[in-house]
Amino acid sequence: MQMHFACLAFADCLLRIAHFPAICLSLPKRFYLELINPKAEQYAASFSTAEDALLQLISAETERSHTQPHMMSGHLQGQFLEIISKLVRPKRILEIGTMIGYSSICLAKGLAEDGVLHTIEMREADAAVAKNNFIRAGLSNAIQLHVGNALEIIPQLQETWDIVFIDADKTGYARYYELVKPRLRSGGLIIADNVLFHGDVLEEPIKGKNGKAVHAFNEMVAADEEMEKVMLTLRDGLFLIRKK
Ligand SMILES: C[S@@+](CC[C@H](N)C(=O)[O-])C[C@H]1O[C@@H](n2cnc3c(N)ncnc32)[C@H](O)[C@@H]1O
Repeated sequence: MQMHFACLAFADCLLRIAHFPAICLSLPKRFYLELINPKAEQYAASFSTAEDALLQLISAETERSHTQPHMMSGHLQGQFLEIISKLVRPKRILEIGTMIGYSSICLAKGLAEDGVLHTIEMREADAAVAKNNFIRAGLSNAIQLHVGNALEIIPQLQETWDIVFIDADKTGYARYYELVKPRLRSGGLIIADNVLFHGDVLEEPIKGKNGKAVHAFNEMVAADEEMEKVMLTLRDGLFLIRKK
């Protein structure tokens, strides 16, 4: 299993560094995340606000030491989340799936004064790295890290959410949506990551359990008339869902 993750991380790393589309074509698609032409993604990144020094460092450390670095939002998506958060100026953010805290830091940059971001991570090793990253970012007062299963922790959080970022296990997306929607304020945003799931949702029929779960989630959101929504083809697909 470790070997499999190491290969996966190596292949992903190779693609990120080399941005060599020919390799993408020759690898099974589970080995890479980007559906977008890597050159286009690199071009977009080069015209976006540069990744700050700490996020660059965290990103490099994660590429080196984590078995699944591709799960981290990264520069372009992180910058997108930061701008959305700065537009909303949220008092309360909920993030489901912290990993090492990259997206938490981006989202927390837009918090209103005295705002708080709650983030949930079930893997203790990742949560420990995230906790340290929040200290390095000077955000340990603004971010409350909960270690455990999001399905158990979300109902305990008696908050009204301005932004919810769903980015944990894909088979849980529909349940997370049902749990957080009643506590999302009118005008609040749910942002769901990986809604194209490496392209699996484009298969006919969809074979993998994650692709099937994400597609069912997408259908549920599309049919929800209480929400306005736009699905963006940024990175692995990002669903922006606004409560009317
Ligand atoms: C895609 S990563 C999060 C990446 C991070 N949001 C970012 O963009 O930088 C998903 C994380 O969700 C965590 N996770 C999966 N299922 C979970 C659950 N039921 N409760 C809490 N965390 C969970 C995983 O351990 C993993 O670290």
